[in-house]
Amino acid sequence: MTLSDTQTKKAVTMPDAQTVTSVRHWTDSLFSFRVTRPASLRFRSGEFVMIGLLKEDGRPLLRAYSIASPNWDDELEFYSIKVPDGPLTSRLQHIQPGDQVILRPKPVGTLVHDALLPGKRLYMFATGTGIAPFASLVRDPETFEKFEQVILTHTCRDVADLAYGRELVEGLRDDPLIGEMVAGKLIYYPTTTREESPRMGRITDHLRDGTLARELGLPQISVAEDRAMVCGSIGLNTDLKEILEGFGLTEGANSEPAEYVVEKAFVG
Ligand code: A2P
Repeated sequence: MTLSDTQTKKAVTMPDAQTVTSVRHWTDSLFSFRVTRPASLRFRSGEFVMIGLLKEDGRPLLRAYSIASPNWDDELEFYSIKVPDGPLTSRLQHIQPGDQVILRPKPVGTLVHDALLPGKRLYMFATGTGIAPFASLVRDPETFEKFEQVILTHTCRDVADLAYGRELVEGLRDDPLIGEMVAGKLIYYPTTTREESPRMGRITDHLRDGTLARELGLPQISVAEDRAMVCGSIGLNTDLKEILEGFGLTEGANSEPAEYVVEKAFVG
């Protein structure tokens, strides 16, 4: 059987199959990949879909993944951790261009502009793979039409874990669609917590002690001017909710937009 026979066979037997177009391994535990986009799939930047592979028994094994590409992109991008014993990521990390993955074309999520009231600045707080929905949102012109300043914070244990976000931000400057809009508006604030780097510590501590505001020369977060999106571990989400509510912000939803929104970084 040739490769194309195999692919044709899989395409027939696998529901909602999409083809992997590229894979990039960032560290031993992080990788990103791009897949074809179903022609009919519409989504709002920041949303997630269920993706996965077929199990041995022929049934799908699916997990929620934020779409990391913007809604104007021809392909879909995802950013994932590799969990050694993880039922899905232990296999998904080995995908190659030409392979197929299952993608349920039903995007949902709360890290969307529709769930936030208008404001002057938008803070995006991410840890680890929680940067994925923001990778979509910072490549969406709507983000820069709606806010005067966008502050993307990313906290990881080690410097190498920041590479995906750093490259994303550097790439934006040369982007023909969004480069000009981003100039002077997007502030990138990476921190590490375990490995030595120019800026260390948890973002929650930088918020509580005023380091973030001081380093950026911005006022402390206020309900009058600031909006926030949070995506990380349960601990981060819980702590940030408390901090943001301490600043007077209330949590929004698609049905009732407000001043901040939270979603957990799914695979981990
Ligand atoms: P720390 O190293 O101090 O735990 P993980 O790899 O465990 O998902 O963590 C990713 C990053 O998120 C790490 O830098 C970690 O810092 C940070 N982090 C974990 N929990 C919290 C929290 N409750 N508040 C702020 N940052 C957190």
